[in-house]
Amino acid sequence: MEYSSVVGLVLAAGKGTRMKSDSPKVLHEAFFSPMIHHVMDALQPVFLGKSIVVTGHQRQLVEESLRDYPISFVQQSQQLGTGHAVLACEGELCSHSGPVLILCGDTPLIRTETLRLFLQFHVETASLVTVMTTKVLDPCNYGRIVSDEHGSIVKIVEEKDASPAQKEIREINAGIYCVDAHFLFDALRRVGTDNMQGEIYLTDIVAIATGDGIHVHKFYCTDSEEILGVNSRRELAQAHAVLQRRYLDVLMEYGVTLVQPEAVTIEKTVTIGKDSVIYPNTVLTGVCSIGSCVHIDSFVRIDGSTIGDCVRIGSFTHLQQANIPSWSTVAPHTIDVKLR
Ligand code: UD1
Ligand code: MG
Repeated sequence: MEYSSVVGLVLAAGKGTRMKSDSPKVLHEAFFSPMIHHVMDALQPVFLGKSIVVTGHQRQLVEESLRDYPISFVQQSQQLGTGHAVLACEGELCSHSGPVLILCGDTPLIRTETLRLFLQFHVETASLVTVMTTKVLDPCNYGRIVSDEHGSIVKIVEEKDASPAQKEIREINAGIYCVDAHFLFDALRRVGTDNMQGEIYLTDIVAIATGDGIHVHKFYCTDSEEILGVNSRRELAQAHAVLQRRYLDVLMEYGVTLVQPEAVTIEKTVTIGKDSVIYPNTVLTGVCSIGSCVHIDSFVRIDGSTIGDCVRIGSFTHLQQANIPSWSTVAPHTIDVKLR
């Protein structure tokens, strides 16, 4: 499907207080890339008409990091909430009529295919407002989806504003929305700041829609993992683990044996031929081409190297920008201790 009439908005102006960091949150790396790059990489293949990233806190750093992406930037000079961040784009979007796909720069696990299905659903249901939701075991810190007796979404309540009963709701807001531009800005102008954080919440457009008699469509994402919003270092580590596992699955599918997959680190820039065997506690990074039937023992580190076929690499080897011909053996790094 063609989505050239859709504008993509990625919110990335926040400070990320809960990261306890001097760097902007969206630049923290998960699986070797800043979180926001993963979001942009998922979004790019959808081929939207235009994509805008909202920057604010340390915006020069964020914009510099995204210089290779075909996007434009809108500045949110004060971080007064997610709704306020979208409002900052009003001028840029004044001539746009049609859907606006809104994402957060801190959800690095979202997949292109899910975004495509989400847009398709929005278009096919002729929706004005579509919200992506999922169910999680621990909904803590996410906005809760409050539904009526028919299961229709009525409003979104943030953790800090939720009643004890609402906190029990396990269906959460993914932070991904598709909204008709005209309705979006009309609704945002009506959103107040009467909440625990004194912010303009983007999520409040849902209650405004239902109040106006507009049906808010819900797109349920069955894979709740994709929805992870990274607000803390713990969630950053979780995001890394998922992205790493996805690539290890690709390698195993291709015919590579990983003896203990949870204990290897392999960057996406590393290709490995089939029937190669990688032992635990091995770190392979940079642009590497590793041949077939290669045996890499435990505690090996290889960066930016080319390894031929049928090579054996012993433990405690550290190769950097190396070129190892096929059929060779790199002996383990051992210290010969004479025992008396
Ligand atoms: C938000 C949603 C919550 C949802 C969750 C999903 C709101 C009010 N809450 O909460 O319902 O479950 O995401 O992960 O929207 N940002 C700005 N400018 C601002 C504030 C934030 O650009 O003034 C950006 C941040 O950089 C971030 C994104 O918006 O990329 C989300 O902000 P964050 O503070 O992480 O919101 P959550 O508390 O996670
Ligand atoms: Mg967040």
